[in-house]
Amino acid sequence: MKLASIREFIKADLSNLKTDNLYRKLRPVDNQKGHLLVNGKKIINFNSNDYLGLAANQEIIKNSLNDFNEISQCSSRLVGGNSTVFENLEKTLSMHRKTEASLAYTTGYSAVLGTLSSVADMNTTIFSDELNHASIIDGCRLSCAKIKVFRHNNMEHLLKLLRGVKGKKIIVTEGIFSIEGDMSNLKSICKLAKEFGAFTIIDDSHGDFVFGTHGSGTPSELNVNNLIDIHISSLSKGLGCFGGYVASSNMVREYLINSSRQFIFTSALPTHLCNFAIEAISIAKKGVQQTKLFKNVQMVRNGLRKIGYNTGNSVSQIIPIQIGSEKLAMEFASKLLEKGIFVHPMRFPTVRKGRSVLRLSLSASHTKAELVYTLEELYNLGRKHKLL
Ligand SMILES: Cc1ncc(COP(=O)(O)O)c(C=O)c1O
Repeated sequence: MKLASIREFIKADLSNLKTDNLYRKLRPVDNQKGHLLVNGKKIINFNSNDYLGLAANQEIIKNSLNDFNEISQCSSRLVGGNSTVFENLEKTLSMHRKTEASLAYTTGYSAVLGTLSSVADMNTTIFSDELNHASIIDGCRLSCAKIKVFRHNNMEHLLKLLRGVKGKKIIVTEGIFSIEGDMSNLKSICKLAKEFGAFTIIDDSHGDFVFGTHGSGTPSELNVNNLIDIHISSLSKGLGCFGGYVASSNMVREYLINSSRQFIFTSALPTHLCNFAIEAISIAKKGVQQTKLFKNVQMVRNGLRKIGYNTGNSVSQIIPIQIGSEKLAMEFASKLLEKGIFVHPMRFPTVRKGRSVLRLSLSASHTKAELVYTLEELYNLGRKHKLL
């Protein structure tokens, strides 16, 4: 294809995105001591996944920079060497997830991609929940496996799909779904996996450090921790840090080190981030931040339902407000921002077309006054737009 036609294609595609209200642009923000400023104005931020409010903890930041020698080792762990800091982080993560071993990745996205594309091949069938995150969809595609998508949390559909499929099977799901905020039906999934000899992989990026005893995750909350073959998570959400990891058996770790291109062919996670993660885990384990978070969750979820908003089946700190049209979702978000409330309108391809939502990500660091004010403004706006 000629370069000119590629240019025309890009131009036309951008124009279509604008017409369909699906155009995305980067919004400039500033950060002042952990407070986000938009247009120089302090806002209440519902777009961060810093659920436990640890990302701006100055003491952890200071401690994690204690032996700060270089910003990054500027090479992969296989080539540039394996600092004891990585091993310490991975031991801490294995203890946290109650698994034999762990492996750190530079992001949660690459951990998901790296795992699925390594353990599955064209002779594997992957059963994937229809609302699974983009990283899972991309990992499935990259693996070249046959993909069967089951209806969201629908075990009858999963059972129907599992029947008659021969060969290697994987069931992959999220723990807490990233837009809906609901919990995966892990008990039934594990039961079906056992019955059909399927491997279980869970991406618990949004349940990790939040749910379960001492924040040990969604499978622990549901008493199925030892039935999960591979746990994957992000360090950039509940923990308020950056990076990703896989927790599983020694053999899976060894296999990923030898086969996962997203681990082999990229530079190592910087060690100051590993230090931050180790210290943040020790704070998360105390459970104080989770108690604060769930107090906030209770207040907002009850408040929204009382006002009359549809928040779906959310049971977590992720609370979606169903809006529908892309245009209205954008209008809502922009009006809220004028009032100092920062909520992103989630549109296609993050959600289905015509099913836009405003997703509130709650944090332990939100104050009661901020949440009361937000509920009041959401009520005013909902009345004005005849949504309530
Ligand atoms: C379910 C899920 N998995 C993986 C990721 C990727 O994690 P990270 O931001 O660490 O790359 C995200 C990020 O939003 C997510 O929601």
